[in-house]
Amino acid sequence: MEAVKQMTNWDVEKIRKDFPVLSQTVNGQPLVYLDNGASSQVPQSVIDRTSKYLAEEHSNIHRGVHYLSQHATTAYEAAREKVKRFINAPDVKECIFVRGTTEGVNLVAFSYGRKFIGEGDEILVSQMEHHSNIIPWQMIAEEKGATIRVIPMNERGELIIDEYENMLNERTKMVAVTHVSNSLGTVNPVKEMIATAHKFGVPVCVDAAQSVPHFPVDVQDLDCDFFIFSGHKMFGPTGSGVMYGKRKWLDQMPPYQTGGGMIRTVSFEKTTFAPIPDKFEAGTPAIAAGIGLGAAIDYINAIDFEAAAAYEHELLEYATERLGDIPEVKIIGTAAEKASVLSFTIEGIHPHDIGTILDQQGIAIRAGHHCAQPVMEFYDVPATARASFAFYNTKEEVDKLADAVQKVIEVFA
Ligand code: ALA
Repeated sequence: MEAVKQMTNWDVEKIRKDFPVLSQTVNGQPLVYLDNGASSQVPQSVIDRTSKYLAEEHSNIHRGVHYLSQHATTAYEAAREKVKRFINAPDVKECIFVRGTTEGVNLVAFSYGRKFIGEGDEILVSQMEHHSNIIPWQMIAEEKGATIRVIPMNERGELIIDEYENMLNERTKMVAVTHVSNSLGTVNPVKEMIATAHKFGVPVCVDAAQSVPHFPVDVQDLDCDFFIFSGHKMFGPTGSGVMYGKRKWLDQMPPYQTGGGMIRTVSFEKTTFAPIPDKFEAGTPAIAAGIGLGAAIDYINAIDFEAAAAYEHELLEYATERLGDIPEVKIIGTAAEKASVLSFTIEGIHPHDIGTILDQQGIAIRAGHHCAQPVMEFYDVPATARASFAFYNTKEEVDKLADAVQKVIEVFA
């Protein structure tokens, strides 16, 4: 994260030209898109690559001897290679394509859980998890008679690491933690948390949905056991995503979904399964989306991603300052290490009203509980308004946000 602290030169106007959606007007105003935490926008190169597949290569993969099928297979597997290099996975076979982070976490929870979690075992999740990194673990815990324990956080929205360390014991079978909180923006010290869990022989599943779009990652450096992210938050299409897992786990885990493409042999008496990654990729995958994700990785590789991260961090600091200067605004989530997300409330004004009034001025933010109800409960709020940034946002857009928030306050005064 050191690079993030340096000042940077970043030609944001040039970058914006790569994203056609950004040049439109909404409700008569230039679009100010600040809902990147939900879905980032897609550059022309990703649109072109996906269209090329649909126009010229569309076919099922791994199944045909014919020309198109071989082309589609080559393109899809090339995307997997790009994923491997993007996260620095040791082996491309450890990169499983999924439809998104939610599917990836469900895969790990049910597959790992069926094999390795038993009665009386414990699963640690943090207070700031997205529902998709809570509920799958709850379901498998109920099925197996295991217990969910919650790693607490402080008022700033930082995990209390001393308490986490005390929670690990011989009954702990998994730590499931987010890399960056979608509702608070906190960057968690996952590398240290993983090292601590490993002292107890406990694997760690990292929800990386909100980290991969914002700074470079390296699964070997983190030494995580599972690392899951979505394509649609990192400038790729919806329906794409990756579950990286260490082979030592994946080889032992049973399939999560079954059907075509994941078998070695099938008879009515017994089925044997294909090796990874196929074992975890039943059925026809989202081929266009996977190839589009590969193109999104090409895009990230072609820009200076570290400079992008540094720029985005400056933008977040500027936005924090601008909104922080408005006395009625309360910022939710003030961790020392943050990325991309600025959640806030205004006393007496529901976040949905804030979101609706901002939308009338062409400003897109998310309002709600952000699929993180335990976080809302912790701060005793029903919801927050959330601006979330990408490297194509500008200081002028932050100014428009701050001015529009000021207007909301005036309307309700
Ligand atoms: N998980 C996405 C968000 O934070 C949808 O908005």
